[in-house]
Amino acid sequence: MAERLGVLISGRGSNLQALIDAIAEGQLEARIAVVISNRPNAGGLERAAAAGIETVVIDHKLFARRDDFDVAVASALKERGVTLVCLAGFMRLVGARLLEAFPNAILNIHPSLLPAFPGVDAQRQALQHGVKVSGATVHLVTGELDGGPIVLQASVPVREDDTVETLSARILIAEHRLYPEAVRLVLERGWRVEGRRFVLGPDRAMPV
Ligand code: GRF
Repeated sequence: MAERLGVLISGRGSNLQALIDAIAEGQLEARIAVVISNRPNAGGLERAAAAGIETVVIDHKLFARRDDFDVAVASALKERGVTLVCLAGFMRLVGARLLEAFPNAILNIHPSLLPAFPGVDAQRQALQHGVKVSGATVHLVTGELDGGPIVLQASVPVREDDTVETLSARILIAEHRLYPEAVRLVLERGWRVEGRRFVLGPDRAMPV
C-alpha cells in the first residue's frame, strides 16, 4: 500500500506541486493524505484541491500556546494515517509535541546548502555572503532550526549579477527535482541516523 504523506504549507505550494506531480507521474510511490496550512489563504491549498487532496486549515493565530497548535496538527495528521510529514514552505517552527508524534519522520526543504544560511531569507544571506555556489537541502526535522540530518542536497551556481529573485528561481528549480527524490529515498527505508548524519545501508547508493 502506498505510504501516506502529510504536507504542511504556509504559502504558494510549488514544492507541494512537485510532490503531487512526481506521484502522478509514477516517480514517487506515495499518496498525499492531507495538506495542512497554517494560513487560510495559502495558494497551495488550491493546488491540493485541484489534485483532489483533502485540505485542512489550522490557523496558528487561533492558538494561545504553541503546544496546542502542534497537538492539533499532529492529531490531524495521525487521524489520516500519515506516516511521513513533508514541510513545504511551512513558516512555523516545529515544536516538541509534533516532533514527538513523528520521530525522524518529518522532512523539510530549505533553499541553501545547509549548514550555511539557516533561517529566513537564505537566498539573500547567500548573496550577501558572496558565495559562488548555493542550492537546496532536504533534511530531517529536529528541534534545531534547519539543523537536522541532511538527506539530500543539490547545488546551483551563484552568478555575479544575481538578485534574490533570480537566485531564488534557480534554486527553486533544483528544489522541485530534489524534494520528490529525497522523499523517495526516505520511504525506501534501509537508512539510519548516526549522530547528525543520515546514513544509507550498505546495499544502497545515494542518487546523484
Ligand atoms: C521554498 O524555497 C522552500 O525551500 C522554503 O520555502 C519555499 C517554499 O516555496 N522552505 P513553495 O511554497 O514550495 O513554492
